[in-house]
Amino acid sequence: MDIKVSSILTIPLYISRVDNFEEINKALLPEIKKHREENKSLPMSNDKCWRGMRQYNSEKPLLESIDILCSRFHSDFMKDKKETDRRTVYWTNVNEKGGRNMFHHHAMGTNGQSTELSGVYYVQGKGTGKIIFRTHYHMENQISPYMPYSMSPSYEPNDGDILMFPSYLLHEIEPNPSEEQRITIAFNVSLFLGSEWAKKTIMNKVKDDNPKS
Ligand SMILES: [Fe+2]
Repeated sequence: MDIKVSSILTIPLYISRVDNFEEINKALLPEIKKHREENKSLPMSNDKCWRGMRQYNSEKPLLESIDILCSRFHSDFMKDKKETDRRTVYWTNVNEKGGRNMFHHHAMGTNGQSTELSGVYYVQGKGTGKIIFRTHYHMENQISPYMPYSMSPSYEPNDGDILMFPSYLLHEIEPNPSEEQRITIAFNVSLFLGSEWAKKTIMNKVKDDNPKS
């Protein structure tokens, strides 16, 4: 009897260490510090987490690294599709000791803009808590602990690490156990702005925000 086993509904997680991350961080850290001094945290952040959305003068090498990951994703999964656009938005999170980020996904992007890929760059990540990934099956305790893949996968970050995954993937960040701040730059990448899907997503968001219309 011939038996085939296929992995279905798999979710790709890209992990890399950014080249020359020490140099990049040397330029980013003073800009992040200035940003924090000049701005209160944005709303919708979590307890003990400062969040800001400013474009940094030293962003170029980081954006190039994100682009490399996106191109790899495109060549792995979407060779037959032509991107209509590739637009990256990013924001900064600074978590003090005990600061965490609750389970969430990025599927609706920022401002209702459709997004396909999301991720995080760890400016300062070593010893500051893991990122944990889950599915809805995990969230609703539908997986017997005896089944394969019943445990939520997690990743222990280091400084300079960059992770990228589909925007729909649920994830949370553990409370920071360290005296060091966890400093991350999170990002969303839209690959198909202007597509029918993007328009539909944005329109649905507007409809949700204004139920009478
Ligand atoms: Fe996130």
